[in-house]
Order: sequence, then structure tokens, then C-alpha cells
Amino acid sequence: MVSMASNAARIAIIGMGHVGSTSAYALMLRALVSEIVLIDSNTALAEAEAADIADANALARPAHIWAGTYQDAATASIAVIAAGAATHGNESRLSVLSRSAVIVGACVDSLSKAGFVGIILVAANPVDIMTQIAFRKSGLAAKRVIGTGTLLDSSRLRQALAMKLDVAPAALEGLVLGEHGDSEVAAFSTVRVGGLTLEGFANDGEPFDHDALAKDVREAGYLIVSGKGYTSFGIATAVVRICEAIIRNERAILPVSTFLTGEFGIADVFLSLPCILGSGGVERILLPDLSAEERGALRRSAEVIRQAVATLDDRP
Ligand SMILES: NC(=O)c1ccc[n+]([C@@H]2O[C@H](COP(=O)([O-])OP(=O)(O)OC[C@H]3O[C@@H](n4cnc5c(N)ncnc54)[C@H](O)[C@@H]3O)[C@@H](O)[C@H]2O)c1
Repeated sequence: MVSMASNAARIAIIGMGHVGSTSAYALMLRALVSEIVLIDSNTALAEAEAADIADANALARPAHIWAGTYQDAATASIAVIAAGAATHGNESRLSVLSRSAVIVGACVDSLSKAGFVGIILVAANPVDIMTQIAFRKSGLAAKRVIGTGTLLDSSRLRQALAMKLDVAPAALEGLVLGEHGDSEVAAFSTVRVGGLTLEGFANDGEPFDHDALAKDVREAGYLIVSGKGYTSFGIATAVVRICEAIIRNERAILPVSTFLTGEFGIADVFLSLPCILGSGGVERILLPDLSAEERGALRRSAEVIRQAVATLDDRP
């Protein structure tokens, strides 16, 4: 393995399907880095996406975007893994586990062989387990292997609450934690609107059904997939937001999938908790003041992930 210094101005995206290509486009629009290298086992597809995005260069923020190799990715500061088995119809994210595991494993092996020492950001589903595979195979420090986790779900929760409460989604905080999947935990105790708890803010309004709202958030992805066949814009925005926090060393606090070592009594799995993100990756994992019910649901979510990991023939 050849080890190289990473280049803060370069991001590599592996997998040029709906998620990877939309992430590349969103990354270009955000003008975060000057070089974006695109990789797919279908090289014609990667070349076409690179050419299509580069067509916007004269009209948007110019970046060097090209279909490259793992050698090109080796010096990137972040490698985004968007190659994985996509779900269709009502397929759960866990149902594509073994297919995605082979794909993500191959991508990480190729990155390691090329001497990659940057930060790996995994979007492929089931994302918590794919991040665990990337961690074990890459040999990188846990803080440098991150999954998009429940950042997308938390954004969906904030959007749904914002509609109910008639405030801007950016004006309220709220976290979905645990698995990015069916066992995720909408932690209503973490909701803050102008410093008020949800109950405090909603005092005058109609009481609403927390469980129904959590279900809508949990099932939002299925609804989008049933209409357009895939999801892309929400996850791509989450990918770019995480890249931004890392590249700019923002110390932003975002719920992402990270390796737990005893937080809330959970160890040896990846799942989402709020993390401080900076140039080193996950700089610190935060433990919000959850209710007893939410803590129990988080532990059950960890168990779902643990059991799914155990079904893989080759434990990562
Ligand atoms: N984390 C999230 O919130 C979230 C949201 C949406 C989709 N996803 C996941 O992201 C992944 C991609 O979804 P999509 O809709 O873009 O799928 P897609 O089928 O459109 O694209 C997958 C791409 O990966 C490529 N690929 C396959 N094996 C490869 C390999 N070994 N090396 C390089 N490229 C390879 C394929 O050629 C294809 O272009 C899936 O696992 C999906 O479930 C995650």
C-alpha cells in the first residue's frame, strides 16, 4: 500500500447512479472543492456524468470534474461511497445488505490499495452496516469513517415539524437517531423551537400525534421511491453538507453514523448520534438528554443493526 497525503481541494465520488451523480452536481454548485473525481465500474457512465456536470462549468462555479481511477481518488480528502444495491418498491434497506456489502467491500479495497488516507463518507444502504464494513476493511481510524446516517431523516423530521408548527425548518432543531432505517428513533425530546421544547411551543396549538409524525418521517423514503423509483436530492444534500463541515473544519453538529464504544451502553456498531464534525472527521460524539423511552428505542435499534451484521457470511 502506498500512503499519500490527502488533497483538501479534491473529493472523490464512487458510484455514479442517482445518489452519486446528484451528489457530484450538488457539490459542484456549492463550490466547495476545485476537483471532483467520479468513479463507477461502468466507466462510460462516469465519463458521461462528468461531461454533463462539466457542461455547467461556464455558467456555475468552475471545478475540474473528470471520470477517474482509484489512483486519482487516493489523494482526495474525502471519498464518498455511493455505490451500492438500490432498493426498489417496498424493499427495506436491510434487504439489500449482502449485495451492497460486496460492492462497498470492493470499493474500499480499491481505495486502500491505492493508498487512500482521507475520510470515507458512506451513503450506500444499509448505511450503518456499510459504514462498519468500510471501517473494518479500510483500517482507518473510526473517526475517519462516517455514514450519512440519520442526517437525512432528521432533515425530514424538521421539515415535517416545520409544516405542523408553521415555522421555517431551519428555525427548529430535532434529531432522528439510531439506524437509518425502520428502527430509527425520532427523538422528540431533542426538539427545540426558539429555545422552547415541543410541548412548550405547541401549548396553544392542536396537540399532534408524535407516533404518526415519526411514521411519516420513517416512511418518507419509501414514498419517494414508489413515485420516482429512487431518492436523490435529499441524500445528495446531506452528503454535501457533511463534506462541507469537514472541508471547512466547521465543528458543525450533525447526526451521522459513527462507531460507538459504550455510548448509551451501546458498543461495536455504527449508528447515528449527534457528532461534532471537523477536518479530522468525527471530533466528538454527543449524548443528548434522551427520555428513558428513547434510550430504550436506541438500544433496540442498535440490536437490529447488530443482528443484521451477524447475518453477513463474512463478518466485516
Ligand atoms: N443513505 C441514504 O439515505 C440513501 C438514500 C438513497 C440511496 N441510498 C443508497 O445509495 C446507493 C446508491 O443508490 P442509487 O439510487 O444511486 O443506485 P444506482 O443503482 O442508481 O447506482 C449505483 C451505481 O453504483 C455503481 N457500482 C456498482 N458496483 C460498483 C463498484 N464495485 N464500483 C463502482 N461502482 C459500482 C453502478 O454501476 C451504479 O452506477 C444504494 O445503496 C442506495 O440504497 C442511500
